[in-house]
Amino acid sequence: MSLLNGKVGLIFGVANDRSYATFIAESITKLGGRCAFTHLPGEKNERRTRKAVEGLGLGDAWMFPCDAGKDEDLDAVFTAYAKSHARLDFVVHSIAFADREWLAPGRFNETPRASYLSAIDISAYTLLAMGRRARPMMRDSGGGSILAMSYYGSEKVVPGYNVMGVAKAALECTTRYLAAELGESNIRVNTISGGPLRTLASSAVGGIDTMLEHTPARAPLRRNIEGKEVGGTAAWLISDLSSGVTGENIYVDCGVNIIGV
Ligand SMILES: NC(=O)c1ccc[n+]([C@@H]2O[C@H](COP(=O)([O-])OP(=O)(O)OC[C@H]3O[C@@H](n4cnc5c(N)ncnc54)[C@H](O)[C@@H]3O)[C@@H](O)[C@H]2O)c1
Repeated sequence: MSLLNGKVGLIFGVANDRSYATFIAESITKLGGRCAFTHLPGEKNERRTRKAVEGLGLGDAWMFPCDAGKDEDLDAVFTAYAKSHARLDFVVHSIAFADREWLAPGRFNETPRASYLSAIDISAYTLLAMGRRARPMMRDSGGGSILAMSYYGSEKVVPGYNVMGVAKAALECTTRYLAAELGESNIRVNTISGGPLRTLASSAVGGIDTMLEHTPARAPLRRNIEGKEVGGTAAWLISDLSSGVTGENIYVDCGVNIIGV
């Protein structure tokens, strides 16, 4: 029997075949789990997500549009999911947004209020918003696992990561408060702090080339992370093997976070 046999859940954040969410879906599927997906509203976004999902051999997967910045979209996704699925075992939050203009080294201090707030809204608040909506169905499924993607720029200054670092700090803290409240329903909430990977989202970060050069030069494993390594840790966090783990931030970054100088 495979590790995730019988587990079914929702994945937010597949934009294309390089998305962290795609690697996570691939691991879950290989281990016997079943994934449903959301995509940003709009035909082009749907086509892009569908192509990546089909690339995993999941052409008939359930898909639903969702702008996570809108409560009505989140309500609609969880309502529609509940109508067509018998259980909800996991939710993967692999989404983030910040205005590209302010993700350049030296420009953090110029971030306008609206850009600061929208980064925190889409990249952090949405985890709480999803957790609240997932809770009833997960509780009825006997519990569940919610996980989100973070980055080391939440703790230390990484030039160019800027307001996204502030949002990731909020995301990690949201994870802990959510874990504390949802634990009574046997729902676990964790973040994975992934190493830098070239994706649509990371291409907006001004310092991404420096991050990718820094890791092989400094990390204990002397290389950059591969998407499938985050996928493997995500599958473990969704599985019952991690049943005692909640509220944690797990680094999957070739160990670079432990290096001081
Ligand atoms: N790539 C990296 O270097 C790296 C490192 C650590 C953590 N992360 C995190 O991993 C997660 C996934 O990013 P990625 O690098 O795979 O890039 P990506 O561009 O493939 O994924 C980002 C996703 O966020 C979604 N999104 C943005 N705004 C949204 C909204 N309003 N509603 C719903 N979805 C929305 C996009 O549609 C996209 O699917 C993000 O949280 C990112 O911060 C990325």
